[in-house]
Amino acid sequence: MAKSLVTCALPYANGKLHIGHMLEHIQGDIYARFLRLIGKEVLFIGGSDMHGTPVELNAAKHGIPVEKFAENFRKEHIQNFKDYLIEYDNFYKTHSPENKEFAHLFFKTLKEKGFVKIKEMEQMYDEKAQRFLPDRYVKGTCPKCKAEDQYGDICESCGTIYNPKDLINPLSVITQTTPVLKTSKHYFIELAKFSTKLKEWIDASNFQSEIKNWLQNWMNEGLEDWCISRDEPYFGFEIPGSEEETGSKKFFYVWLDAPIGYISSTKNYTDQHNLNWEDYWKGGEITHILGKDIVYFHYLFWPAMLMAVDFSLPKIQTHGFITVSGKKMSKSRGTFFTADDFLKLYDAESLRFYYASHLDNKVVDINLDFKDFQAVINNVLMGNLGNFCYRTLVFAQKNYLTIETVSEEKELEKEITILINEIKEHYNTFDFKNAVKKILRISDIGNQYFQKAQPWSDKDSEESKAAVGFCVNLARNLSILVQPIIPILSKKVQSTLSEEKLTWSDIKFNWTGVLQKPEQLVQKIETLPVSNDFPIQMKVGEIMEVKDHPNADKLCVMKVDFKSEKRQIVAGLKKHFTPEELVGTKAVFCVNLKPAKLRGELSQGMSMIAEDDDGNLSWLTPEAEVGQEVQFKELKNSEKEITFDEFVKIKLVAKSGKIFYDGKQLQKVSVSGVKDGATVR
Ligand code: 2FM
Ligand code: ZN
Repeated sequence: MAKSLVTCALPYANGKLHIGHMLEHIQGDIYARFLRLIGKEVLFIGGSDMHGTPVELNAAKHGIPVEKFAENFRKEHIQNFKDYLIEYDNFYKTHSPENKEFAHLFFKTLKEKGFVKIKEMEQMYDEKAQRFLPDRYVKGTCPKCKAEDQYGDICESCGTIYNPKDLINPLSVITQTTPVLKTSKHYFIELAKFSTKLKEWIDASNFQSEIKNWLQNWMNEGLEDWCISRDEPYFGFEIPGSEEETGSKKFFYVWLDAPIGYISSTKNYTDQHNLNWEDYWKGGEITHILGKDIVYFHYLFWPAMLMAVDFSLPKIQTHGFITVSGKKMSKSRGTFFTADDFLKLYDAESLRFYYASHLDNKVVDINLDFKDFQAVINNVLMGNLGNFCYRTLVFAQKNYLTIETVSEEKELEKEITILINEIKEHYNTFDFKNAVKKILRISDIGNQYFQKAQPWSDKDSEESKAAVGFCVNLARNLSILVQPIIPILSKKVQSTLSEEKLTWSDIKFNWTGVLQKPEQLVQKIETLPVSNDFPIQMKVGEIMEVKDHPNADKLCVMKVDFKSEKRQIVAGLKKHFTPEELVGTKAVFCVNLKPAKLRGELSQGMSMIAEDDDGNLSWLTPEAEVGQEVQFKELKNSEKEITFDEFVKIKLVAKSGKIFYDGKQLQKVSVSGVKDGATVR
């Protein structure tokens, strides 16, 4: 049987891991655990990606020698993996003797086979820092849409891809000086020479459909030469002979030796365990797991390199990113969670289970919505699966201590066996979401069976004992099926049965044996993390109708249109505006105020008006459309109802025609005719 190797992309040893990274390592761990469970010989291999400019500059900024800096992060990452129950067989590093040796081997072979050429290249150069600048280290104005402060490779505003030298007013990120253009000779891999072989490989593969499309487009556009060298100073491996060949020392670009790190981490492991790395890389089954941002590297550059040295070509599985509450994680919104942060709130298995229940074979982003997370853990993991296993085991242990007879349920066994086979196939195809669904179907069956058998009504009857025996068998089988995802729960169930490390082939329906006292299986989610919300929900509305309040001199009653709905709002505006002035006004309103009756008239919101100490008033005038929300920069409007007392405590101040809260500006809204310092009421 071919040996299997599973890898995740090697994270840069340049910062903390966050819950987005954990998606990938959890996905890899689930897959590797599954392969082990079905009896495959598998190595789960990872490592730190240590080279490149960002690591080097970051280390310098912290005043730490770069190797030590990277090593510190490697250690921290290893601890993160342990905390998340991610069991790498080896988590090595790219800055290692093994990796240097392999990098040399690849380069030498590529060169000997005629895939490498040397060309002059013009690049941005920072004269003050005396270094060439990678694209991300040059910023300037986008030549197309004129957006300021854009990176040298892509405009985040209009999406245009360009060369850093096309930027208007380029500046070095390192010294803030204007870079110059300088030429230097570099090494390139002629990727186009692999086109035919790559195409054959891609056609024969069963990559995810999104990936096939991207690859097809890239292949149609034609493969360009890939620059694999960098000038000094650079943290990486020096290219042998480069000084003579190009006139100055050159280093391997980080992306050349990063994937080679998969091989060197394997060898570092096999050397210590009396195994051969060749069994994996020349004839083994390799699976790379990675994110959608590094597809080009792994589906084109890397296989070309492997083809050059005649190593095995990988299978590849690509995932999307994690969003939190539907958006990219953001520190200011309070939705950025490092791996450590998350564990201060919840346990690792809850995230593993949540991710598994959302991961399938598609390249789509997965949204972590904490309300959904709470529901998945409390209602599904705990309420269904956990509940079935726990109630069965507690009942069995308390009343019988041993299981001696098991009801024969041929029909159910048949149904469950089909599910089990499907679950296996789902794991195999990275459709963890459906694996979870079917696992839950089995615990559903169990819950119903237990309920129907009512063993509590006649505990000591043979029937009850046998029925509980059947449920214990289901719990035992479930402990095997869920092991890749929630290994601790699995282990707890198995220890209750005085067993451990059961594998797929241990699945059966006639287990008998001794029970131990069960432990609690799932931790309930009680609280949700606080996010950085702004307590007022502000929406653009248009005043449709105004009439005098029947019972109050100063108040008027307005009908305000918010597109999706119309609301009645009572406001004290009579002495400032005539009804004619009000009708047709488009302004910002608070729409999450607790509805109240003001002197008998219902008010479903509040007008928001700035007033200075001279008594000048201004509406908050929106650029946005009727019905849209407006918000402060980086703050999400809360949808939670607020009271009038809470509303008046929130201090919004006008300055230079704009409204500010806590130093943050209200976007797409202006005020006029009021002095700086005017407050909103
Ligand atoms: O994108 C990244 O985080 C890279 N460090 C991934 C490298 S994957 C492999 F090539 F090592
Ligand atoms: Zn642009």
